[in-house]
Amino acid sequence: MQIVIIGSGNVAYHMAKAFVQNNIHLAQIFGRNEAKLNKISEELEIPHSTKNLVDADLYIICVSDNSVEAVSKIIVKKDCLVTHTSGSLPKDILAGEYRKSSLYPLQTFSKSKELDYANIPFFVEAENNEDKKTLMDLASKISSKVMESTHEKRKYIHLTAVFACNFVNHLFSRAKEISDAQEIPFDYFLPLIDETVQKIHEIEPKAAQTGPAVRNDKRILELHEQLLKDESLEIYKTMNHSIQKMYEL
Ligand SMILES: NC(=O)c1ccc[n+]([C@@H]2O[C@H](COP(=O)([O-])OP(=O)(O)OC[C@H]3O[C@@H](n4cnc5c(N)ncnc54)[C@H](OP(=O)(O)O)[C@@H]3O)[C@@H](O)[C@H]2O)c1
Repeated sequence: MQIVIIGSGNVAYHMAKAFVQNNIHLAQIFGRNEAKLNKISEELEIPHSTKNLVDADLYIICVSDNSVEAVSKIIVKKDCLVTHTSGSLPKDILAGEYRKSSLYPLQTFSKSKELDYANIPFFVEAENNEDKKTLMDLASKISSKVMESTHEKRKYIHLTAVFACNFVNHLFSRAKEISDAQEIPFDYFLPLIDETVQKIHEIEPKAAQTGPAVRNDKRILELHEQLLKDESLEIYKTMNHSIQKMYEL
């Protein structure tokens, strides 16, 4: 099967790397950014282009959600399967006359961070069973966790991921702002962060909650509010409100 990856961002890079590491041939990596494509192409030894999209059986579109529809129009071939990697877009956002599908990897991808692909859950949707099988077989070569999904379910999987990953990471950024401003090394907090994440492998998140809000320690909450301003203060109040609502305090 001839496979082309479209895009040169985080997902395109890691998807291409996972395929190459598992001896899956890639016919091309295609995109608009010559410099980024060139770097990926050199590292992974895959042909690349910004102009001539090669003929393929499967095109995997890994571009920003806002551009998936526009980019999908560059594939004029009809007898092929096209997929995108977005968590929230429907497969029908793909605008050509080819067969449409979705292949969503539930992980956070950054180019500079190595990943173990074998445990990444992949969610597959397609128009027919044959295409579903093609994508599931392909994803199964790089991961042991490949599942069918629906757009309805995938939207909620993505939404959960935003809370569980993107928001949590933003809180790490805000936490680092606070520690940096006081010249407290952020390294001090890494064992705490690691334990917070490890703990929920064994205990329900709701049972694992600690801190002044769940203890309803009003004096400490007020003291903390006096130390904060702007967005961090708003986040602090919103989080405490949410915690106290959940525990009916
Ligand atoms: N990152 C994650 O953790 C993650 C996880 C699961 C799924 N996804 C999904 O995977 C897809 C790609 O995400 P990403 O994180 O890889 O994004 P990204 O790192 O921001 O890369 C986006 C890519 O899209 C290209 N692009 C944007 N607009 C374009 C256009 N009009 N024409 C051609 N190329 C265009 C960019 O080109 P330039 O380099 O020239 O800007 C870049 O190569 C998205 O649908 C996202 O929702 C992401």
